[in-house]
Amino acid sequence: MNLILMGLPGAGKGTQAEKIVEKYDIPHISTGDMFRLAIKEGTELGQKAKGFMDEGALVPDEVTIGIVEERLNKDDCKKGFLLDGFPRTLAQAEALDALLSGMNRSLDYVIHVEVEKDQLVERLTGRRICPKCGTAYHVLFNPPKVEGICDKDGEALIQREDDHPSTVENRLEVNIEQTQPMLDFYTDKGELVTIDGSQGINEVFNDIDEKLKTIS
Ligand code: AP5
Ligand code: ZN
Repeated sequence: MNLILMGLPGAGKGTQAEKIVEKYDIPHISTGDMFRLAIKEGTELGQKAKGFMDEGALVPDEVTIGIVEERLNKDDCKKGFLLDGFPRTLAQAEALDALLSGMNRSLDYVIHVEVEKDQLVERLTGRRICPKCGTAYHVLFNPPKVEGICDKDGEALIQREDDHPSTVENRLEVNIEQTQPMLDFYTDKGELVTIDGSQGINEVFNDIDEKLKTIS
């Protein structure tokens, strides 16, 4: 199962990815998570990415494509993969295409989770994450059992640096601009599946899963 999960910031990619990889046992490859880990560990990659991420801008294509290439060549991706948040530009989509051709592989589906901008602002500014395990919650739509505490490990939840209202607007604008050319690219290839992401978390998952069940 070779999948891409795409959608604007806050569309629910991370939330759905967690459910998909649990059911289908494929690696979850989130470029955002990879960059955040690199920043936390203070690596060279982290230093390259931090400034862009803090402003809500995109990390340059050559950096991003490089880390995805390296990751897809790891053994665990032989059984399939779920790319979350990559590709995010037409250049990244084209590079991925060339990379997969070179590996004699192709995509099953590009799942586009579609949500209106106003709803995204509300989701992003209300998101809280666990700094230890990365689980995302929402103060209204997906609260933890105990306010401010991760259900899984009891860690105190925090707000992501780029979820502050001043950055959210720029992040959305930057991503909206890049999205249409990619949607056209995958529509032409017949791989695009659009899911109504404005529904509740379980309803969105059911719609995605209906499609995934058709992959043999
Ligand atoms: P990344 O980490 O990928 O962030 P993003 O795309 O901005 O997406 P988010 O993680 O914000 O949202 P999501 O869609 O995963 O939503 P979630 O499930 O958490 O990237 C961060 C940065 O890294 C980028 O800005 C860029 O700088 C850099 N970067 C990453 N990839 C790159 C690339 N390929 N090229 C260049 N730069 C790159 O849900 C959001 C909230 O809503 C949560 O609180 C959740 O609980 C809630 N929620 C989820 N689903 C629902 C629902 N159905 N109903 C109600 N609430 C819901
Ligand atoms: Zn946790």
